[in-house]
Amino acid sequence: MNFNTYLSNFSKNFTEELINIIPTSDLNTSNLKKAIVYTIKVGGKRLRPLLVMETSKILGVKRDYAIRVASSVEFIHCYSLVHDDLPSMDNDDLRRGNLTCHKKFNEATAILVGDALQSISFEILSDLKTHKDGNVRSKLVNELAKCAGYSGMVEGQMQDLEAEKKNLKINEIKKLQDLKTGKLFHFSCTAATILSQQEDKYYRKFQKFSKNLGLAFQIKDDILDIEGDEKKMGKKVRKDVSLGKETFISLKGIEDSKKYAELLIEEAIEIISIFGKSSDILIKICRMIMKRSK
Ligand code: IPE
Ligand code: IPE
Ligand code: MG
Ligand code: MG
Ligand code: MG
Repeated sequence: MNFNTYLSNFSKNFTEELINIIPTSDLNTSNLKKAIVYTIKVGGKRLRPLLVMETSKILGVKRDYAIRVASSVEFIHCYSLVHDDLPSMDNDDLRRGNLTCHKKFNEATAILVGDALQSISFEILSDLKTHKDGNVRSKLVNELAKCAGYSGMVEGQMQDLEAEKKNLKINEIKKLQDLKTGKLFHFSCTAATILSQQEDKYYRKFQKFSKNLGLAFQIKDDILDIEGDEKKMGKKVRKDVSLGKETFISLKGIEDSKKYAELLIEEAIEIISIFGKSSDILIKICRMIMKRSK
């Protein structure tokens, strides 16, 4: 099977998993559930769940556990996109080829969808079904909270908004991108070391792997914002320049940024290659990050 087909099959199947794992309750009689299901069903690459699943395979984590952790990080990611698209943030009408949540419903609904997705994520992670050992569950909750929130993605999003009005140095941009994008990659790549209780042996390796991947991924996102096609991407392009946003590209130019991101990817591949044949898919994911057109 060609790798693009593998990826799109994974994404389709994982959407089903996400819909099935949304907690159901007789109390949900409002439009909230409908808006959440809409937000999830429009799809996406599901790259973060794929990273959880692949690292879990390498470390021998039970598939049922891995799926729950993979869902929890994708719910956080989906919430971050719903809020990122709001008029008070990036003001986007299109996401994953469909109307953004606030355009399809309204702003208040989109804010509440984000809030609910965030709590669903932690509800899933803290549930007994995620791991039999309470210490493991507690570590996962703690790790995701740190990656998603105040000193993670949310801080990165705040710095990103402030970057529209500031001149940043390259290291400040790296830091910002590590927070807004890298932290969820970090969680996605290190969760399996917690689930398999092998942090001593592998946490640092996967941390380094994720750091390179996250930064390369965001640099490519910024390149696609300039060179990409709106139809393929399913979101509006050429936004960063019009907002005057400082990115890796605005400082280093496209060619140097590409070279740098490719170097990060090669380094990531080297790190993960120690696992031999079982890292084949992860290596393909690394290559896809730079080759992708969406
Ligand atoms: C978009 O992430 C937001 C960034 C961190 C650049 P993705 O490119 O993974 O978006 P989806 O999930 O495939 O829609
Ligand atoms: C968003 O970065 C990263 C998040 C944490 C959501 P962008 O604003 O560049 O993402 P896109 O380009 O809208 O997907
Ligand atoms: Mg943004
Ligand atoms: Mg945006
Ligand atoms: Mg972008």
